Amino acid sequence: MRISVIGCGYLGAVHAVSMAKLGHDVVGIDVDTARIGDLAAGRAPFFEPRLPDLLAEGLTSGRLEFSTEMARAAGADVHFVCVGTPQRKGEYAADLRYVDAAFAGLAPYLVSGNVVVGKSTVPVGTAARLADQLTDDAPGAVLVWNPEFLREGHAVQDTLSPDRFVYGVPDNAAAAAAVAALDEVYAAPLSTGTPRMVVDYATAELVKTAANSFLATKISFINAMAEVCEASGADVTALADAIGMDERIGRSFLNAGVGFGGGCLPKDIRAFMARAGELGADQALTFLREVDAINMRRRSKVVEMTREICGGSLLGKRVTILGAAFKPESDDVRDSPALSAAAQLQLQGATVTVTDPEALQNAKGRFPELNYELVTENALLGAHAVVLLTEWKEYRSLDPEATGALVADRNIIDGRNVLDPAAWRAAGWNYRSMGRP
Ligand code: UDX
Repeated sequence: MRISVIGCGYLGAVHAVSMAKLGHDVVGIDVDTARIGDLAAGRAPFFEPRLPDLLAEGLTSGRLEFSTEMARAAGADVHFVCVGTPQRKGEYAADLRYVDAAFAGLAPYLVSGNVVVGKSTVPVGTAARLADQLTDDAPGAVLVWNPEFLREGHAVQDTLSPDRFVYGVPDNAAAAAAVAALDEVYAAPLSTGTPRMVVDYATAELVKTAANSFLATKISFINAMAEVCEASGADVTALADAIGMDERIGRSFLNAGVGFGGGCLPKDIRAFMARAGELGADQALTFLREVDAINMRRRSKVVEMTREICGGSLLGKRVTILGAAFKPESDDVRDSPALSAAAQLQLQGATVTVTDPEALQNAKGRFPELNYELVTENALLGAHAVVLLTEWKEYRSLDPEATGALVADRNIIDGRNVLDPAAWRAAGWNYRSMGRP
């Protein structure tokens, strides 16, 4: 099939290369000339496992192209809208300006029978509004809302082997042909054994927001338990293992630590609260305020623990932060707990050096006041405290003895509960973690 992908950020770039991998002819479109220049030249604009290989394969095959011109979408049968929906400045609500611009820009190139597929995470009610607009601007084009559940760091794998497909369709006769077209895009082997649900627009939009809210709630639940463990001397990791064995609960997303960040969970729960307020259903989501508050408290807790481990004051102390990305296998620093804690530590008088294998360039752009060092050993030199905040495998496998030889004081805070307390204590470290004695 001929496909256009509007928006080549984390979601769109991965979607475009994955669709080319499936054998479709794909054009990826974005207003960012630098990004399109990179993609067209075969350079992945961000770190994502497998993206460089699929990009090279798609470009070489001739099935994948990139452009800054919306006109290049003309002639495609299916158009995926993958632009971002960031949090509005100073507000909880989502900023829909990129979605609106994408639909307005695309409309003149649509012909009757085209299918427009919304993949961006939007407030419930957006798809119905956009479908109405399409009826006026591009008669005969049909909108399907098809949320994407990919995780950064696993984005290609999640796109090529999804857990499920959700299609939000209009309540009219055009729905059947649109479903068939999307089925053809996601044909075997992608669709083999993958459940598919066809629902109304509002349900499709809510599936995404509800899933992210549930994941955020799971993380904040275990972080709340970590607070209670800290007050009572219990061990949150053992607690998570034990409750996770109940399959109704499940062990995944119960890792206590410095909490969740990234471009999705924090802003999605806030946008969800804002939207529920507009709908008069704000009471239903007041618990998400607490989910957010617990999450932010963990960042402050790490700062407080670092101050304590440094003897009560951070003035004149050298602190090394291991990790800048919001999670491993990503160079994304949007709302990164690691950088937020690092900035707070620096504000309180510490000299902070941040190291990360992939995210330093992005981190420098957002927090120019911090010090950065790519080589872990260099970053550790002379540290009075080491704080592990992103669990890259190179930090999980650090040797306590060799690390100890580099630092000024053997103080470590394990903000992700991934190190072996016994091994670090045996090497003379003052070891502290989140919710573990
Ligand atoms: C998330 C959803 O998982 C994905 O389905 C959706 O499409 C987009 O948002 P992503 O933001 O890529 O994906 O990362 P995810 O793996 O969910 O991690 C989010 C944050 O939670 C990270 O900062 C991570 O470190 C943190 N986390 C995750 C925990 O603190 N504890 C856990 O147990 C799991």
